[in-house]
Amino acid sequence: MSGDRLLCPYHGWEFNGAGQCVNIPYFPSDQKLPCAQARSYPVQEQLSIIWVFPGDPSEAAQVPLPTVPEYDDPNWLMVPIPGKFNAHFSICNENTMDVFHGFLHRNLQGWFDPKLLHLHQTDTDVEADYQVSYQGRLSQFLGMSDRGDRVTTRIISIRYRYPHYSNTLEGVSRMYLMRLPVSPTETRSFTLLFLKIRLPQTLVTVVRPLLSRVIWRFLLKPFLDQDVEMIESEQRTYEGDRQRRYVEVNPAIIALQRVILKQDGVQSSHPTLQSPHVDDSELASIP
Ligand SMILES: [Fe+2]
Repeated sequence: MSGDRLLCPYHGWEFNGAGQCVNIPYFPSDQKLPCAQARSYPVQEQLSIIWVFPGDPSEAAQVPLPTVPEYDDPNWLMVPIPGKFNAHFSICNENTMDVFHGFLHRNLQGWFDPKLLHLHQTDTDVEADYQVSYQGRLSQFLGMSDRGDRVTTRIISIRYRYPHYSNTLEGVSRMYLMRLPVSPTETRSFTLLFLKIRLPQTLVTVVRPLLSRVIWRFLLKPFLDQDVEMIESEQRTYEGDRQRRYVEVNPAIIALQRVILKQDGVQSSHPTLQSPHVDDSELASIP
């Protein structure tokens, strides 16, 4: 960017908000500019994220952005989490809806004994409540238990509304996961995790940025790294045999697949889903 203009990194051509080329730095000032036009999209800035609407511009105002009430609330610590996956959008989504994969994170004191308690699906949404248990220092650090050796059981509620997620871990955290399909084999995510503050506000104000980075790097990134390994492995397995059919036993994921299939008519490259590409009627997020 150069001010409010888009700057081409190759030759430095500058484009205004309407996509028109308005400066070529090596042209003499009296030389007429060519009629070069970049594609432009309606954008909004919210939550320090630039939201791009890739569909019909006239419909942009009708699609609401996710609301994040905790964003300015000092009682929560915000931990931004970037994610990049060499995998299809739908494989990434299944990971987020899949609470039964706590097995993968067992060496990080992740959750265990998951039970699906409630599932609700509409044409656009999936809501799932799971019961999960925690034990260990992580649950103590997150305020779930006074003692690390004690098992504590909580409800985690997950909501998917294409193309984004939110979830609530009872009394502990809220998470907003904005997902951007980039290509059939690449997906990005921008997550805002909020943890309940249990320290004095004066202390938190001073250490907030550092605390956020430390929690991301040492507490959360190891979880994400394990997920990335599995997700990308699943993508590679699919590419090795695109005709192979998969067995899915989690009703929440089956519901999720049904919703994604309804999003648009574009052909997918995923084994279980046929159309989970970017829906032009929806918003994608780009930081
Ligand atoms: Fe995971």
